[in-house]
Amino acid sequence: MDRELALEMVRVTEAAAIAAGRLMGRGDKNAADQAAVDAMRRMLHTVAIRGTVVIGEGEMDEAPMLYIGEEVGNGQGDPVDVAVDPLEGTNLVAKGLPNAIAVMAIAPRGCLLHAPDMYMEKLVTGPGGRGVLDLEAPIGENLRRLAQATGRDVSELTVVVLDRPRHAELIADIRKAGARIKLISDGDVAPAVAACLPGSGVDMLAGIGGAPEGVLAAAAVRCLGGEMLARLYPEDPQEEERARSMGLGDVRRILTLDDLVRGDDVLFVATGITDGDFVQGVRYQGDWVTTESVVMRSLTGTVRFVRAQHRLERKLRYGKQPLAEEAL
Ligand code: FBP
Repeated sequence: MDRELALEMVRVTEAAAIAAGRLMGRGDKNAADQAAVDAMRRMLHTVAIRGTVVIGEGEMDEAPMLYIGEEVGNGQGDPVDVAVDPLEGTNLVAKGLPNAIAVMAIAPRGCLLHAPDMYMEKLVTGPGGRGVLDLEAPIGENLRRLAQATGRDVSELTVVVLDRPRHAELIADIRKAGARIKLISDGDVAPAVAACLPGSGVDMLAGIGGAPEGVLAAAAVRCLGGEMLARLYPEDPQEEERARSMGLGDVRRILTLDDLVRGDDVLFVATGITDGDFVQGVRYQGDWVTTESVVMRSLTGTVRFVRAQHRLERKLRYGKQPLAEEAL
C-alpha cells in the first residue's frame, strides 16, 4: 500500500474526533457516535483507496453508514480492507471519561479478519511478550512469563481489564498473582495500543471485549511489534453459527496475530477524542481545534504522533472535503 495513505488516514480519524468531541459529557452516546460516523464517512470518501469495510458499524440492514461490505474511498487506489470505529468508547465520550478514540486500520484486501460482532477473549502485551504467552494458561502463569521475559517482577506489571462481572475470576486471579490492575469502564482498544508502547504504564490487556475492536487492536499490535492472542467467544448457538458462516472454521480456536492481521502491510491510525494514555483529546478554542493522533505502518514500523491545529473556518471554505456541520 502507498505510504502516503498513512497521512490521508489521519485526516479521516481527525474529522471523526473533532465531530464527536464537541459532544463530550452530554450524556448522549448515540449523538456522539452519529457525529463521528458522519464525519468519518465523509472524509473517507476523499482517500485514494478502493476500500471495503470489513469491520464497521454493523450489517447493512442495521447500519446505514460504514456497514460491513460498504465500498469506501474515491475508488482510485489499492483494493483494501478497511476496519473502522469512528467512536471507540461511546460511553466514555458521553461521560467525558478518558481513552475515547476515533480509530481505523487498512490492509491489502483479504488481510484483516472479518470478525463477527460478538465477544472475543484477548491477551495483549508489548514486544516483550512475543512467543511467551499462552491463552489457555492461567493469567498468573502469563504474568510470570511476561515478568521473566522482560526482567521485571510481577508486582511491577499493570494489567488493564474491563470492569465487568464476567471478569470477577480473572481480576481475582490477577490480584492473587500480585500484579497491579487498572479497571476500565469501556474502550479496550486504547489500552491494547498502550500495552505495546513503552512507558505507557500499561503492560497487558486481558479479558473479553468486542471482536471487531480486537481486530482494530491487532492492527496496532502488529505495527508496534507486540503480541496478541485471541479467541472468539460466541454466547449462543446462533452466534456460533454466524461465526462459522463467515468462514471462521473452528470458532473456538486460538487466533494469533497472523490470523487477525495477515501479511505485514497494515496501517493503523487513532485520534484522541477524550484525553487518553497515548494521545490527548480534542481541544476547541474559537476557530482553532487541536487534535492528537498516532499513525503506524507495520511495513517499516514507523510510529508518528501527529499534533494538528485546524482552522475550522478555512477548512470549511477551502478543504477538499468540508468538515461535517457538527464539527463547527
Ligand atoms: P462502544 O461500542 O459503546 O464504543 O463500546 C466499545 C467497548 O467498550 C469496547 O471497547 C469493548 O471491547 C466492548 O465495548 C465491551 O463490551 P461490553 O460493554 O459489552 O462489555
